[in-house]
Amino acid sequence: MKVAIVSSSTREGRISHRIALALEKSINGRGHEASIIDLKTQELPMFTKQYGQYENPSAAMKEIGDICEEADAFIFLTPEYNGSVVPALKNFVDTYAKGPFAGKAIGVATCSTGMMGGIRCAHQLQLIILGCFAYPIPQMLLVGQMQNKFDAEGNLTDPDYGQKFDEYLEDFIGFAEKL
Ligand SMILES: Cc1cc2nc3c(=O)[nH]c(=O)nc-3n(C[C@H](O)[C@H](O)[C@H](O)COP(=O)(O)O)c2cc1C
Repeated sequence: MKVAIVSSSTREGRISHRIALALEKSINGRGHEASIIDLKTQELPMFTKQYGQYENPSAAMKEIGDICEEADAFIFLTPEYNGSVVPALKNFVDTYAKGPFAGKAIGVATCSTGMMGGIRCAHQLQLIILGCFAYPIPQMLLVGQMQNKFDAEGNLTDPDYGQKFDEYLEDFIGFAEKL
């Protein structure tokens, strides 16, 4: 199964990308094919029209579009910003929706440096996914105090968190495979 992980923080010095790296490794380790859409390095223009309306999309837009089309499932990863998802993620969704997302499983993964792990934006993200006619998996990966859980290479630094992380991935893969 091909899984596209959307890493959406564009902030200088961002931390959440560590979780994208950890997800990529773990999904590949389970025999699937994960790739990261990195909205910091693969920059999208601010929405003016949908991807399909561009006559000459940039190389980054085309690369992202191709990954989305080929993906069997997605994980949308976002830190919580002011109670919601980061703007680059909504910009990405509005640019490509609904075609490559419709009918596919999409996992919600949210995070924060505080204790709550982005629970407020996680619920909003499930609604955004429904708006794309896609299926949000019921389980959510909430990573509180993420700075203590993974290092910069995406290795787990808090062994107690490993079980939750693994359970989430098992649930996600099981749900996506059933679809
Ligand atoms: C603009 C902004 C808004 C934030 N709002 C929240 C928030 O609503 N809830 C929360 O728990 N943390 C909030 N934080 C703290 C983030 O959890 C923390 O900065 C985290 O490192 C952001 O992820 P990133 O480093 O990948 O960008 C906010 C941070 C920023 C920069």
